[in-house]
Amino acid sequence: MNNKLTLGIFGFGVVGQGLHDIIKTKNLNLAIKRFVIKHPEKKRSLPAELFTTDANAVLEDSEINTVVELIDDADAAFAIVSKALRSGKNVVSANKKMIANHLEELVDIQHRHGTSLLYEGAVCGSIPIIRNLEEYYDNELLHSVTGIFNGSSNYILSKIFNENLAYATALKQAQDLGFAETDPSLDVGGFDAKFKLAIVASHAYGLYVSPDAILNIGIDALETPDIQFAREKNFKIKLVPTAREISDEAVILYVLPKLVAPDNILYAVENENNGVLVKAAFADEQFFYGKGAGGHPTGSAVLSDIAALRYGYKYEYKKHIEAGALTYSTDWEITVYLRYDEETLIEKLGFAAISERYYAHDYKYVIGRINIGNILANRDVINRKGVFIAEIA
Ligand code: HSE
Repeated sequence: MNNKLTLGIFGFGVVGQGLHDIIKTKNLNLAIKRFVIKHPEKKRSLPAELFTTDANAVLEDSEINTVVELIDDADAAFAIVSKALRSGKNVVSANKKMIANHLEELVDIQHRHGTSLLYEGAVCGSIPIIRNLEEYYDNELLHSVTGIFNGSSNYILSKIFNENLAYATALKQAQDLGFAETDPSLDVGGFDAKFKLAIVASHAYGLYVSPDAILNIGIDALETPDIQFAREKNFKIKLVPTAREISDEAVILYVLPKLVAPDNILYAVENENNGVLVKAAFADEQFFYGKGAGGHPTGSAVLSDIAALRYGYKYEYKKHIEAGALTYSTDWEITVYLRYDEETLIEKLGFAAISERYYAHDYKYVIGRINIGNILANRDVINRKGVFIAEIA
């Protein structure tokens, strides 16, 4: 069954154009009928009749059987995707924020309307992790899924550590190269990585966890003393999302900067590349590596989903049915480096143990064991200039 697909595509930005570049080189059984765009005044590289600003020109066109959603407004994206799925169209989306925030509802809509929503391009760009978690690791016991899920922050950290670039210069480059979100605080604040982690948690463990309930601390408060601290110990700093089964009943999820040593496989993941490290009971360790951002890498994942729809592919969400007693927990101790400004913060955070303290007029830090739940409860007082926290493996 190789169904002919007629596509309506929302968005003609970095990913939309990347996807179009790839599609035009291929002889696939599909046709693009319309692009829906927000800014008609922009000069486009394709004939004007292909573009419209009217969403219903796609959503109410019965010839269009497949909607591709590549816009960055998560609320508008949810309205488009849910309407398309309800009206019998299959959908491919790369909108991690929208999917992470509405996954349970979107799964329900798919079941009720017999339609399919695929989103490989939403998680780690070109790395095929969702379909692997869904199919290949269907019967595996996954101990953990960790890695580097955000290309922009990894690009910034690479430029700082390898080329001594200033944070702001590196961020500007990531924006100019089309890696960053329109609001880059989503990247550097660890939100984008958290949305991807929530989606991964669903396909790895069968858990729906609202992103609001997951700890995310980013790299936006990183300062020179933290970089020096890492360098002196031969570490690099990476932004690492973690999903880990801590018992037969509980899974922890969090995003934190991490001090990684040269023998850690993530140490060598540089620039906009992403890496996903899967630790499984039987397969043992497996590592997926590839470009995590950019028009062509993300476009290639979107095209893979479009191609899968020609054969009627659907995620089955089997792990949700089998998840049974597995629940999300934040009750887990980790070791962290914490640079801080006010002494009261250390008392407030309730460290279980402190193994090292440094105290000077303009630079203070502690290294100690702390519960993730304590960090989460105090995220507002940690997430600010003057405080930087990073996990130590
Ligand atoms: N802003 C995202 C990143 C794009 O930098 O990883 C890909 O999801």
